[in-house]
Amino acid sequence: MLSTHLTFFRWFPVRHSIRCCFRILTGLVMVVLVSLAMAAFFHPPMIKRAHILVQGFDSQIFKNKILQKLFSDTFAGRRPLVETELVHIGFVKVHKAASSTTQNIFLRFGYLRNLTFVLPPEKNAFSWPNIISLNESMTTYNIVPPPPGRHFDIVCHHVLYERESFQKFLPNDTAIIGTVREPFSLFKSMLRYMQPSYVMNINGDQKVSQFLRNTFLYEPQNLAHSMTNNRMAFEYGCPSDIIIRRDISAFKDYLRVLDKDFAVVLLAEKFDESLVLMKRHLHWTLKDILYAKLNVLKSNQDTQDKDTFPLTVDPDDEPWYRNHSILDYYLYDFFKNRLERQIDAAGPDFAEETEQFKTVRKEVEHFCHSTVKDSDSIRIKQSPWNEEFDVTIFDCELMHKYEITFTTMIRERQYNMKSTWSYK
Ligand SMILES: *[C@@H]1O[C@H](CO)[C@@H](O)[C@H](O)[C@H]1NC(C)=O
Ligand SMILES: *[C@@H]1O[C@H](CO)[C@@H](O)[C@H](O)[C@H]1NC(C)=O
Ligand SMILES: *[C@@H]1O[C@H](CO)[C@@H](O)[C@H](O)[C@H]1NC(C)=O
Ligand SMILES: *[C@@H]1O[C@H](CO)[C@@H](O)[C@H](O)[C@H]1NC(C)=O
Repeated sequence: MLSTHLTFFRWFPVRHSIRCCFRILTGLVMVVLVSLAMAAFFHPPMIKRAHILVQGFDSQIFKNKILQKLFSDTFAGRRPLVETELVHIGFVKVHKAASSTTQNIFLRFGYLRNLTFVLPPEKNAFSWPNIISLNESMTTYNIVPPPPGRHFDIVCHHVLYERESFQKFLPNDTAIIGTVREPFSLFKSMLRYMQPSYVMNINGDQKVSQFLRNTFLYEPQNLAHSMTNNRMAFEYGCPSDIIIRRDISAFKDYLRVLDKDFAVVLLAEKFDESLVLMKRHLHWTLKDILYAKLNVLKSNQDTQDKDTFPLTVDPDDEPWYRNHSILDYYLYDFFKNRLERQIDAAGPDFAEETEQFKTVRKEVEHFCHSTVKDSDSIRIKQSPWNEEFDVTIFDCELMHKYEITFTTMIRERQYNMKSTWSYK
């Protein structure tokens, strides 16, 4: 019940003002009216939940506020805001698919609540303190056990998905979340970012075209060593033999497994919409899903080194890549369609809520980036989708914190230790 209370206090701060009392009065009237008129239509569990939720409160003011909120939200066709936020997250951080930006949301969420993260040992087989594994899911040897008396709440560092492993290390009410991105743009980004040696080392100035027309010559034998061979499908835990055989029918069966397991799969191309869906699913607040774009190449950077960067991609290469990474295209189309269906089903105010989110996000970005600040925080006004809240300079800092720095901070607090990892 404690975390429920904390959630309420955040949403319903005591405001000793006339406006507040007037609201309570109207709230009371509304509760009576609504409950009389609509009682027959309400789901019995919702009424029960409302009563369970208010039981713990001594203050009648809080009780009425909660009931008012519950009923007015139900009236507006939205999920009630009073359910507890979900805090157990299994995030599959797919390379180059908007995943650093999404990961920061989970790092921030967990950091602010002192939740326990699944972390790799600082010194590990992958030589990076933020990578659990590039070739398998969580195992007893690639993660550090939780501190005594704690259990894991969140995984959001690079590791492959696998149902059994996620079930083994995370609580049974964990929401599994992932991201996907249009495969050809993911491929281009991967080349630019990873500069895989098996492509870089091809002779001539048509390296990528050469590679895609002769993948059997150049692709590493071991799938785990490739960043270009259906890597999304691989990171979503698709068994290697399905990828090697390009077994479409077996892969479609695997997609049905993923469909069951994944609560939300965010689409890089519809990122804000995806986040609003996620927010609703996890019963989070607008503030929780604010983000700054991280690990994204700026467009001028993109053009600047075009002359010197050897892995330029021709639009004619696309069909070749499609044939090569055909499972990634199935995966992407599957979750794109699913997301579009979810948006269609999300109710008439979904588009408005997304617009509101975009506006607030820009406002926050502007505040965070302005060099001269009038104040240490900005206040975001109440809207039908959020209570009033402040964004502070500290929030800005967390939003812009890079993965390794953030991971180090979390590691030091979680295990009460001094980090030994440093940039060399
Ligand atoms: C994954 O890579 C690690 C480190 O190289 C290795 O110890 C492990 O055996 C590999 N696992 C699989 C399933 O290939
Ligand atoms: C989920 O885990 C909780 C806490 O460990 C336990 O009380 C509950 O029975 C479990 N539920 C299911 C469906 O396994
Ligand atoms: C398409 O991919 C398959 C399997 O990788 C390969 O055997 C075939 O030659 C490719 N076709 C073309 C036109 O590249
Ligand atoms: C956060 O959790 C760690 C254990 O993981 C504990 O040692 C520490 O005291 C907690 N900090 C706060 C502020 O609750």
